[in-house]
Amino acid sequence: MSSTRQALIRILAGNKQDNTYISGQQLSEKLNISRTAVWKYMNDLKQDGFIINAVPNKGYRIQQFPSRLSANSMQWGLETKWLGQRIVHKNTVPSTQFVAHDLAREGAEHGTVVIANEQTAGRGRLNRKWQSRRDKGIWMSMILRPNMLPHLAPQLTLLTACAVAEAVLIDTHLTPQIKWPNDILFNGRKAVGILTEMQAEQDRIQYVIIGIGVNVNHNTADLAEGLTQHATSLQIESNEPQDIVQLSQQILVQFERLYASYCDKGFSVVKDKWERYAYKMNEPIAIHTHNKTSSAIFRGIAEDGALCIEEKGMPKKIYSAEIVWDDED
Ligand code: BTN
Repeated sequence: MSSTRQALIRILAGNKQDNTYISGQQLSEKLNISRTAVWKYMNDLKQDGFIINAVPNKGYRIQQFPSRLSANSMQWGLETKWLGQRIVHKNTVPSTQFVAHDLAREGAEHGTVVIANEQTAGRGRLNRKWQSRRDKGIWMSMILRPNMLPHLAPQLTLLTACAVAEAVLIDTHLTPQIKWPNDILFNGRKAVGILTEMQAEQDRIQYVIIGIGVNVNHNTADLAEGLTQHATSLQIESNEPQDIVQLSQQILVQFERLYASYCDKGFSVVKDKWERYAYKMNEPIAIHTHNKTSSAIFRGIAEDGALCIEEKGMPKKIYSAEIVWDDED
């Protein structure tokens, strides 16, 4: 966003709090731009969903900030230092992951965020499709350039799940549970999925793209047929619509905060948080290996992202192919 535009919104926001108007002349002086430029900026803001009162002899006042997703509404009031300082917003894309990969290959900076109102070919883990209805959810991808060894990248996925869980808890007061490795459930049904993709050499990560999909304002009819038993949305769970822009910002804030403590103190901060949110922690789960099913107790996560279980009293690590949760198809 241009710094003039940002400054203009900041001034108007201050006035909104005091409930006062500011004249075009005052704005042009404060921003060092012409009256015509002020008028043009006002029109741009209206186009982006800001509701602005313009009263003759009084001036301008913001009546309402936009709840519609745009690069500007996302950036306005975003309290992060580096994450989302560049936001690439698209109305419709096949997948924000594709856009993010292209940008990353072109050299986009650490912290660039791609967000869309709709995805026509949203992708999930294990080559599944991810349904991403227009204006119903958060469909975003973050480009990161972490200074870490490639085999540790799964830690970032676990970190992301914690950040999203934290953000949802803060904004909606719903109680999230993280199902290993990174689905977020509400009352046993999934509303959030995370997809991590990486471009790396043997000992160096070039970039990581973390895709986050959150079903926010779906009603039951909006969820794909056949999914309703396993999927949900924040609106369904809370019985009220949620603010997509505000929650997207909260996710970026929580991610940046947790990423900073992770860089500072290591994986233990993520592990502790993740295990606090964990679905079925210290409960019996079914493990399917080589066509045989055994039962074990779920004990948490390991540094490499593996699931820690206790089988016949012995600790063991499990990787994705070997476990089927008993609530899955
Ligand atoms: C899963 O649970 O299978 C992961 C789903 C990830 C969906 C998000 S939505 C934004 C980003 N773009 C995609 O195409 N996928 C991820």
